[in-house]
Order: sequence, then C-alpha cells, then structure tokens
Amino acid sequence: GATSFLGGASALASAATQATFLMGFEQVAASTADEITLPPGYNHEILVAWGDPIIKGGSKFSVKNDAQDQLLQFGDNTDGMSIFHLNNKNGGLDESRAVMAVNSEYINKEFMHTHKGESMTADDVKKEIFAHGVNVFEINKNKKGTWKVNKNSPLNRRLHGDADEFVMTGPVTGHPLLQTLADPSGANIRGTLNNCGNGQTPWGTYITCEENFNGYFGAPKGTPLSKEQLAYGLSENGFDYNWWQTEDRFNMAKHPNEANRFGWIVEIDPMDPSSKAKKRSALGRFKHENAAITLAANGKAVVYMGDDERGEFIYKFVSQESYIEGDRAHNMRLLDEGTLYAAKFNDNGSGEWLELSFGKNGLTPTNGFKDEAYVLVYARLAARFVGATTMDRPEWVACHPSSPMVFCTLTNNKYRGEKDSQPLNAANPRATNPFGHIVRWVPENRDHTSNRFGWDMFAMAGNPNTQTGLMAGSDNVNADNMFNSPDGLAFDADGRLWIQTDGNYQNEGIFAGQGNNQMLCADPVTGHIRRFLVGPKQCEVTGISFSNDQRTVFVGIQHPGTDWPNADKDGVPRSAVVAIRKDDGGIIGS
Ligand code: FEO
Ligand code: CA
Ligand code: CA
Repeated sequence: GATSFLGGASALASAATQATFLMGFEQVAASTADEITLPPGYNHEILVAWGDPIIKGGSKFSVKNDAQDQLLQFGDNTDGMSIFHLNNKNGGLDESRAVMAVNSEYINKEFMHTHKGESMTADDVKKEIFAHGVNVFEINKNKKGTWKVNKNSPLNRRLHGDADEFVMTGPVTGHPLLQTLADPSGANIRGTLNNCGNGQTPWGTYITCEENFNGYFGAPKGTPLSKEQLAYGLSENGFDYNWWQTEDRFNMAKHPNEANRFGWIVEIDPMDPSSKAKKRSALGRFKHENAAITLAANGKAVVYMGDDERGEFIYKFVSQESYIEGDRAHNMRLLDEGTLYAAKFNDNGSGEWLELSFGKNGLTPTNGFKDEAYVLVYARLAARFVGATTMDRPEWVACHPSSPMVFCTLTNNKYRGEKDSQPLNAANPRATNPFGHIVRWVPENRDHTSNRFGWDMFAMAGNPNTQTGLMAGSDNVNADNMFNSPDGLAFDADGRLWIQTDGNYQNEGIFAGQGNNQMLCADPVTGHIRRFLVGPKQCEVTGISFSNDQRTVFVGIQHPGTDWPNADKDGVPRSAVVAIRKDDGGIIGS
C-alpha cells in the first residue's frame, strides 16, 4: 500500500501543520479585480501578448489584422511554455539571453475578428489556423531586469496549424491509418493544433502537446462516425470552428484519416529553426495535456502524461534506449521508440502501470487490436481494455526535481459517480467532483521504470466555508488558500510546486470566496499551500517557466475576458505572457 512508499495521507495531513521553509512570501487574498495581484515585493511586466509581432517585419497588433499579419505575430491563448538559455562566450549559460517556446492553444472568435466570427471568410479561417501552434522567439534581459522579445533573432519561428514542418516518427509512421490523399506517405504532417501544456527534455528540446484536436474537424449531417472516432470526441460540428467548410482536410467525410495525424506529443528543437518538428507516435495518441519528463536511474527517458477528458487515463512512456550525457543527436532520438503504459490506481494506495503493447494484456487481433499502430493511434481504447483507472480529467503532471515524487492535477469531473463507466474510487473519491484534486505517486524502489507505484492524495480542493465532509477539501485547504480546478502544475529547481487553476471564477455558490483563477505554491512534502497570484477577470492562469537563475517566472494569462491588459486601443482582451520578478531581484517564492 501507499504507506510503504509515502507514509500515507494521514501523515501528510499532520505534516501540513508543521512549518515550511520553501515559501517566504505573504499569501495573496482571493480577488475578483480585473488585474494581476501578487504578494508584496513582487512586480510584473507583460512580455508578449496575442498579436504582438515576434518575427522581423511583423505588424503591430490590431483586431483588423489578417491571416498574413498573424503569421508573423504571437498566437492566441498562450499556454505551456519553456525557456532555453543560450550559451555565453565561455560556454556557460547566458542568464540574459534565451529562446522561449510558447504554445498557442486555441482562438476566441469573438475577439479575433471585427465581425466576432459571424461572417467568416476563407482568410479569416486561415487567420484562426495561423493563430494556433507554437511560438519560438529569443528574449533578452536588459540592465533593469526587464525581458524583451528580440523579434529580429534568426531563431524565431511560428510552427502554426498549417505549417509544412512536421514529420511523424516512431512505429506508426507511414501506416495506412495516417495516409491521406495529400500525404500518401503517412509521414509528412501539416500543422499542429490545440497545443496545451508542454514539456522540456534534459537534452534541450521542447515538447508541445496536442489536446482537443477533435474540435476542429467536422462533417456534413448524417456522416457515419466509427467507434474510434467517437472515442476521441469527433463529431459533425466539432467545436463549431467550421473550418471543414473551407479547408477540405478537416472534412471527415472526405478525409477520415486527417484527424489521426493530431493528438500527439511533438518534439521541437528550439535552437535549429530549419529543423522539422517531430510527432512522436510511440507516446500514443490522446488529448495530450502536458509531458513531465525525467531520467530513470538506468538512463531511460520516462515521460508521464495526462489525457484531459472525463474518465480518461494517466500514461507513462519509457524509452527503449538510454540517455547519453553530451550526445544530443542520440538523445534526440530517445522518444522514437519505447513502451507505453496506462495507470491503475488501486484503492489500497498501490498502483500498477499496465503495458499497452500489441500482443500483450489482451491487445490482440481477437480483441479488435489489429496491430501496433492501432494500439497507439487508439491508445484510449487500449488503456480502457486493459483496465486502467478512469480519472477526473488528468491535466498536468510534474516530477519533483530531486526525488522520485510525481504529482498530477485532476481538474474536475461532473460525471464521476453518475456514469456507470466512472464509478467512485479512492483516487477519484468525490461524486461530480466540482473542485478537483491532486494525486501524488512514487515509483517502487524509487525507479521510474518500475511497473509498480504507491500513491496518495496530495490535496482535495474544496470550500471549507460553505461545504462539509469531502466537499470541504483536504486538511491543507482552508478559507484563506482555497481554489478550484487545479490544472497547470510545475516544480521550480528548489522543489516548490506551483499550481495554476482553470476553474469557476463566478465567486458564488459553492465557489464563493475563491475569486478569479489563480496560481498557488505548495510544499510537496509538508503539504502547505499558499496563494501567490490572482489573475484578471475570467482568465485561466496556465503556462509557467523559470529563468535559470529563478529570479524571473514567466506565467501565462489565457483568455482574459474583459479588457485586460489595456495594452491596445481596440479594447480587445488579449492573452499574454507576463514576467514576474521580486523588487529586490530575489528568487521567486523564497
Ligand atoms: Fe488545455 Fe486540459 O487543458
Ligand atoms: Ca490545461
Ligand atoms: Ca483545464
């Protein structure tokens, strides 16, 4: 059970009353103000917002910008991001120069077009597609400590939804399931979409994660959809983007395999703007939230991943080959080949990784699993078949920097306990779970390649003011730090756990007193949680990356709803990345 690995949840709760030495800042109160609130002694500046030029020749933001303008500008709805410092003349890291890779997850039609999406042209559709994907650009810090985008850097690029710069790698490459009229090779993919969370590899590459790709596809009324398409949420109307009416490849009636080319982990070399981005088929196709990458003691690259949908699963990939220090070319192939697993959380605190390999655990033609490619393209079906535990929408996973602890946010699940396929279990114990929770696990023998782990509940979000029992939340949640719908999750190098929320911001009913979406900091051992930041109205706080010296933290403010950040004359709210620093230049969170 968990006690053999972790000491159990009760020990965690009592530890939460002890002092924490990780957090030196004063807690911020919940707020509904249309601004960013930070602890005393902290400041923030906007680094880049949707529509800012990030490539040489790019135009200034205007809501009247067209598709060609958007090609040279920062995309919409900022999400996961990573920083890669450049080297200085002595071969060390340059603390003032870095390349940043930032996801642009989706678009808001009502703000993207002057007509609010009500009279779409083919060019408007292109603008929307170009506003998705990944933004890669150099940032420089001046003497005052302010970071600025260097839009003239040769490293800058936009890997958008229509970019001809993606290749499929790994076992599914070239398989009939990936072949289309435009690409009979099944290997050359156009674009990346719904880039949600991220990952950063120890060998210096960026991972972008394709999440709700299903929303972009559509089909004429009455088009029959397969059980595989339905399992990934594909439907006639998608999320009403209606791209399929002018962009033929999104029409499932004509191009049923195009959707199989999305929903992957994508690896990008931020230092080589001429390199192809690689979709990594060995890591499985699902609604990828983020990718937490660590190296096992034997050098295998281990990637933990969540599939964000009600009742879907947590996955783990273990590379075939091992990491070799200093051999970047070799390491950049580690995600080509390996073994995929899905997690089973037993009620007694133990857990198992169930292998999703063709021919194992019943994943055979007799049971409908035709070949290795089928298992990976339809990884959800495989995980369900082998008996993995349905979870309350797995969002981000984060690995502790110096211990084998792994954490995952389960954001909420209105169907838990109400659908036969999603019964209550110890890892998802709350019916209709409106607040979400965070689980923690440790692999057996501290070995990330082990097939066994122990787990416990790190935090149950809740509202101790208005609720009782399980709905009040765990002991480390109180009237002063309460929140709902944990989503973004990341460790800094000192082991502070940062939690970002994407939840209900109405501040009423069961959410009364929780205010706008926010970012909190937790001590992963004692369980203390302290609110660090409150975002502007209606936004989601998502995406986090620290400069190497930990003296700047970049945080994403996604889909603010009114007119934040007041940076333009159009009165259009714009998603933005903000740079947060301490007035005294100290380490963030200390
Ligand atoms: Fe893009 Fe599940 O958040
Ligand atoms: Ca998210
Ligand atoms: Ca979310």
